[in-house]
Amino acid sequence: MDGARVYKNKNALFIYIRCCLDACLICLVVNMCGIIGYIGNDNGIEVVFNGLIRLEYRGYDSVGIGFKDKKGKIKAVKSVGRIQRSDVAPGMPNLEEKIKENGRFKFDSQIVIGHTRWATHGAPSERNAHPHVSMSGRFAIVHNGIIENYYTLKKELVDKGYKFSSETDSEVIAHLIDYFYNGDFVEAVRKTLTKLDGAYSFLVISEVDDFIIGAKKGSPLCVGIGNDEIIISSDEMPFVDRTKKVIYLNDNELIIAYFNGNYDVKSFEGIDIEKEIKGVPYDIEAITKAGYKHFMLKEIHEQPTTVKNAFISRVDHLDTMVRDNFPNLPRNINRVIYLGCGTSLYAGMVGMYITERYAHVPSRSEYASEFIYRDPVIFRNDVCIALSQSGETADTKEALKIVKDKGAYVAGIVNTVGSQIARLAGKGMYLHAGPEIGVASTKAFTSQIIAINLFNMLLIDDDDYRQSIINEMKRLPNKIKDVFNNEDYIRDIAPMIARYKNFLYLGRDINYPVALEGALKMKEIAYIHAEGYSSGEMKHGPIALVDDNLLSVFIITGGRDIYQKTLNNLLEIKSRNGKVLVITDNVDEMRKYLGNDDYIIKVPNTIPQLTPIINIIPLQLLSYYVADHLGREIDKPRNLAKSVTVE
Ligand code: M6R
Repeated sequence: MDGARVYKNKNALFIYIRCCLDACLICLVVNMCGIIGYIGNDNGIEVVFNGLIRLEYRGYDSVGIGFKDKKGKIKAVKSVGRIQRSDVAPGMPNLEEKIKENGRFKFDSQIVIGHTRWATHGAPSERNAHPHVSMSGRFAIVHNGIIENYYTLKKELVDKGYKFSSETDSEVIAHLIDYFYNGDFVEAVRKTLTKLDGAYSFLVISEVDDFIIGAKKGSPLCVGIGNDEIIISSDEMPFVDRTKKVIYLNDNELIIAYFNGNYDVKSFEGIDIEKEIKGVPYDIEAITKAGYKHFMLKEIHEQPTTVKNAFISRVDHLDTMVRDNFPNLPRNINRVIYLGCGTSLYAGMVGMYITERYAHVPSRSEYASEFIYRDPVIFRNDVCIALSQSGETADTKEALKIVKDKGAYVAGIVNTVGSQIARLAGKGMYLHAGPEIGVASTKAFTSQIIAINLFNMLLIDDDDYRQSIINEMKRLPNKIKDVFNNEDYIRDIAPMIARYKNFLYLGRDINYPVALEGALKMKEIAYIHAEGYSSGEMKHGPIALVDDNLLSVFIITGGRDIYQKTLNNLLEIKSRNGKVLVITDNVDEMRKYLGNDDYIIKVPNTIPQLTPIINIIPLQLLSYYVADHLGREIDKPRNLAKSVTVE
């Protein structure tokens, strides 16, 4: 997108503008870069390098660090590809080989910034990787988010003589700071902030001063306060092993981080702000693989514990703890609307079935990304629940803002403590599932379903109902462990399953969202086409797909009605020689209908409200082992990122 090109006629110019707009729209799909900055007495290159590895889960295609060298000059080292040499084939680019020699870091610096970039404006390349250094060489920035008016700013800067060396939106920040610099670094950053539109967080270092400035508006930024050091980062992971003290910046706040662990926080207008220091709610063990081949597998196996964490302290104090999480819930609820994206949306769909069937309150679940463009009709006594693992998903955040502005009752069911959605919602429940690092969401889904059940118990004034759910929740961790008895079988059949080119995941009622979620898992980590469908809809079209390349994955559990109806759909497939894999709690009966080349996975029986928790786990394992067999990058699947922080 080079605005300086000359177009011979109006038509060409029109096409160029269209292309720019299209490119922008494509760019706006996702942005989940990670940023980190270090100021302290240790070698910040090492701290930032290790911190970047912890930010990898956010997704990236290039990486870079910037630092002040011994002479106080700014240096930047960038690479496409991976951070660590061990993650790439020999000869492929990586940051490590540029900054280490014979296993030791080549550079030593106490003021360092770093960045993992997931390309939006401009292809993944070294020149588009961050940090971006101002033309004068005095300032270097790393940026997460999108500067929406960058094109106008870039034109203005080009007119002033600034030369750009990347296609990114971010580079304008470095040049603007340089342009505004008049002897006062902080003032130059503040003036720059008044020019920027969009959602962003960025860090900047300068040749002229020995401090780091961080600014936040829309994208996350938190600050680890060590004894003699400060680490500023997109989340706590890069510093959790160095300090548990954290402050979370709010939008329109900036931090100036000095040596010796000192800092000032100010509003963008320059007013001092006192920040509360909080504790990071997890340990370093929570973010290591603990012997598992992938984070995803570790996280799947954590579910007996994470599910328990979601309810254990709450069920005996429903009327205090859970009710306090949802204070002033309207008496006459009009509707319960669950908002989310991806896996979180499917958890919301489970919620919809529970709320309508058991609380008898009208309910729906909404793709946040669609909802925000629909000008939805919202009433004051609508209860809107935003579901999010990361708490940073831009569409969900935007949907939450809309319903809040329209006066609905809002709450969040969120995993990441202190995240933007959690703060915006102001009330609701945390999942306490610990950090979910694999890009494919697993343990968050099962914990969300627990939280949804707890919330619904507030709407159902029936002690027997509540007690039956609580009793069954307490049995769940052991039942989940029973599901793992199938793991060897699933691993063994994975090579055969991996031969199919297409999957139809079929379920009815509360198992329909499970079908959607199972298919999402297969798509995103195994890269095999998989579609989730309501099994009742199957004969209205998809049944035409049945052939040797299609495997139909049925989820057949639940009440007798649903069970029988789904079984009928399975028989329709079988009578057309279709191949099936069945998740069921009724293995003996099911065997009667299946052939030798079909697959069957036994799950323990549970109540319908919790059955999605039990049923999704074999499907998580199935996609994991198929993806592993195919040699996929399971924790960081192509084109995907953990937090989707731009609409
Ligand atoms: O962090 P969130 O729960 O808000 O994320 C929503 C989706 O982006 C997420 O569930 C995504 O679909 C996952 N890759 C699914 O595994």
